[in-house]
Formats: sequence, structure tokens, C-alpha cells
Amino acid sequence: MEFNIKQGSLATIKTGCLVVGISEAKSLSGPAAELDKACNGQISAAVKQGDISGKAGQSLMLFGLPGISAQRLLLLGTGKDEPLSDRAYRKLVQKLSATLKDGGAADALLTLPSVAVKDRDLYSRTRLLVETLRESLYQFDQFKSQKASKPKLKKCLLWSANKAEADQLAKAISHGQAISDGTDLTRTLGNQPGNICTPSHLAKEARALAKAHKELEVEVLEEKDMKALGMGSLLSVSAGSAEPAKLIRFSYQGGKAKDKPHMLVGKGITFDTGGISLKPGLNMDEMKYDMCGAATVFGVVKAVVSLKLPINLVCLVAAAENMPSGTATKPGDIVTSMSGQTIEILNTDAEGRLVLCDALTYAERFKPASVVDIATLTGACIVALGSNVSGLMGNNEALVQKLLDAGKQADDRAWELPLYDEYQEQLDSPFADIANIGGPKAGTITAGCFLSRFTKAYPWAHLDIAGTAWISGGKDKGATGRPVPMLVQYLLDQAKA
Ligand code: BES
Ligand code: MN
Ligand code: ZN
Repeated sequence: MEFNIKQGSLATIKTGCLVVGISEAKSLSGPAAELDKACNGQISAAVKQGDISGKAGQSLMLFGLPGISAQRLLLLGTGKDEPLSDRAYRKLVQKLSATLKDGGAADALLTLPSVAVKDRDLYSRTRLLVETLRESLYQFDQFKSQKASKPKLKKCLLWSANKAEADQLAKAISHGQAISDGTDLTRTLGNQPGNICTPSHLAKEARALAKAHKELEVEVLEEKDMKALGMGSLLSVSAGSAEPAKLIRFSYQGGKAKDKPHMLVGKGITFDTGGISLKPGLNMDEMKYDMCGAATVFGVVKAVVSLKLPINLVCLVAAAENMPSGTATKPGDIVTSMSGQTIEILNTDAEGRLVLCDALTYAERFKPASVVDIATLTGACIVALGSNVSGLMGNNEALVQKLLDAGKQADDRAWELPLYDEYQEQLDSPFADIANIGGPKAGTITAGCFLSRFTKAYPWAHLDIAGTAWISGGKDKGATGRPVPMLVQYLLDQAKA
């Protein structure tokens, strides 16, 4: 979808569909009032006749109004005459998108940036508009022989009252498009099935991304390289699989050579059967999504490169497939991680932390300013926080706060869980330095505790996206692309600081 800015008098702009908000207030205001005048009160007449009251989500399509150059005028109810919540605004935009998608117009002019949203300025609500529209237009039909029909709508014009507004809109469009391009990539990688999206496939995609952007460098460590580095924990996960593990590194230099890099580390389990601690069969197909942390890294990298952010960014993707077989790791096996700490693997289904811990130790050599790992790590996180909010833990208050703030700003939120010392004891093992599971209580936190043993050298935070990375079952099943918006916002904020 293309977005452009349009200034000028609303009544005379030529477009397939002009979209105007109408609130439940007694009298029309803003663009609606301006247009009502131009068409001799046809809009207020429609309101008076009860064709539209302004209730949120209501819509009315009018054709060929006198005095208005647009072919169609779409009135969109915005509810009570007060700023909308993020959620209400998104719902409104989704409704608009559904109407436009099935409608006849190839282009539309939206005056929606003039609708007020709580705690959001023009830039911020316009970005949300762009991202929400793009989100609703995403399709995944790579494996359908009958491709989904493309929506007729190709172009959105955003109306601005003046030059200063136009600058805000331009920034919102460019940021929103970059974030959406990243989110789309994350969704597509997530939606691809485990037989296609293997660790090798991720490595290939990484090389393709780097080839398209010369500021981006990629290196792929093979199993023999990881063995030489002592990554016994990561390799214990791929031991049962015919697919070799890959440790992918992206390096982007947008800042000065001496600037310490920010780092992202993604869990890339391209399929999680549980290994010898085999998962039950119900919904096991959804464990193709167990690489959504990795997919998030790809999406963020794509966005950062296209935004040309003036920061240095190093990303690691720990990619492996978790399978049961004669060569698989068994419960009770003890492995030695790259950090030197020994790990008793009591449950081979707690494999995410096993690949991440070696990647997190490897991260030390890049002397990072901060490290954020992203992982579909625990089912317990879905129990604790549900599907709308990601779990967040860390060893650095300032970093955690920045991520919370970025999540709020991007409407892609996280909530902090306590990483208190008391929980660490749950990881004690009689035979090794640490066990890979901490029992039934506080499973998300003990997973965070496990990672914390490997991240003492730098400010670190961990995002558990088990609940937020994809929508489970049902007709809306699919990857969400979260938390790409949060992390790009975080990096935008770092670029400003
Ligand atoms: N990938 C799963 C976590 C998961 C499960 C995410 C369901 C989303 C939906 C992870 O590897 C896992 O299996 N975790 C175990 C940990 C347990 C063995 C301590 C879990 O959550 O059950
Ligand atoms: Mn698992
Ligand atoms: Zn997993």
C-alpha cells in the first residue's frame, strides 16, 4: 500500500473515496463540517434522517454528492466526542480497512489523522493508522494454489491542513511503512511451515536481506564453528535433528565506529516437538511459530536498515530444530555451555533457554550497550499475561523501563515480571551447576532466571512472546509480527538519545 500526503480544500480533491469521521456530538465539526457546507448540508441531512449517528464503527457510503469532487464519501462513526483509546482507534481503522478493501475505490483520501486519540499527537496517531491499515491488508498465500485476490485499493492519501502537519504526516508514513515492512517479514517467516522454514532457510533469508542492503553484514556460524566455541548447550538441542543448527549474526553500522552496539538475540526453534520430552499432539503444528523471536529480529533489522537509524546494531539468531531421535539429548543429560557452566537437562522441551544461553554468552564479545532477547519461551507466560501483553524481565531497571515505554508508544505492550533472587533456587541441580527447568511454579520467571545466569556482563532484558507472537487456532490464526513495533520504537528512541 502506498501512502501520500494531500493538502488543499477537501471538497475539490479528486479521489475514489473520501473518508471523514463523524462523532456523536450534536453538531458536525472539522472536515465533516467543512464538507457539509460544500454539499449544501447533505451530510447533516443524513445524520438528521438517522442514516448515521456517529456511533463508533458505523459507516455510510454516499455517492456523487454535489459540490464534492470525490467519487464517494465514506462517513465513519468515531463515537463520543472525546479522544479515542488506542484500542478503539485500531478497531475503527480495521473497520475502515474492511470497508475499503471490499469497496470499488482504487484510492482513498483519509482525514482520519484529525480524529483525536488519547495521549497521541498527530505523528503518533498517524503512524498507528498506517500500521493498522498495513496490518489488516497483510495476506499469507504462499502455499495456496489459488492466490487471494488483491484488494482494489492501492493508494491512501492522508489529508493535512498545513505544511507543519504535512511534515508530521511524512515522518509518520515513513516510520509506519518501515515498521510494517518489518512486521510483514516477521509474520511471513513465522507463518511458513517447519519443513520449509528450517535453520538453513533462515540463514539463506539472512544472506538475502544482507545482499539487498549494503550497510548490513551477515555471518552464519555452522555446527562445527559452534562446537569449536564450546556451545554444548545450543548443540544439545539440534542433536536429535537432521537439520543442522545455525547461529546467524547480523551487523548493521549506522552509528560511529566507536559506538557500542545494541543487540537483539532471537530464539529460532524452527519446530519444537519437545524432543524426547515429547509434546502432546494437540495443536503441535503451532510449534512452527517457535522461531518468532528470530523472525522478530529479521523484521527489526529490516526496519532499522530502511530507516537508516544512526545506531550500531548486532543481532544473533539461534536457529535449531528440536526433535526426538536416537541421537537426541535425553532427560538427565548434562551438557557444558559456552560460559563453562554445566546444565542438567531435565526436560528437553525447555530448549529455548538452551539455545539462547550460548548465544547470550557469545554476545559478550560485541561489548554491547544493551542486549534484548526475544523468545516464545514459556507456555506459562500465556497463563500469566494472556495473548495481548508480552512478558518482560531484565537485570537493568533503565533498560526495562525503556522497553515498557517503547511498548506503550508503539501500542505493542509488555509487562514486567519480578526476577527476584528467591526464584533462582528453583534451578538448583544436585548434579550440575544449573538445571534447565525450575518446577511448576512461576515458569516464566524461572526461565528468565536461567537466562540471567548468562547475561551478567551487560544490561540485559528478556521478552517472552509466547502469547503475543501468533494468534492461535481459529480463522485469524497466524503470526502477529509482534514485538517488532515495540523494538523498532525502542531503537528509534536510542537513536534520538
Ligand atoms: N516453545 C515452548 C513454549 C510455548 C509453548 C510457547 C506453547 C507457546 C505456546 C517452549 O520451548 C516450551 O516447551 N516450554 C516449556 C517449558 C517447560 C518444559 C519448563 C513449557 O512452557 O511447557
Ligand atoms: Mn519446548
Ligand atoms: Zn520452544
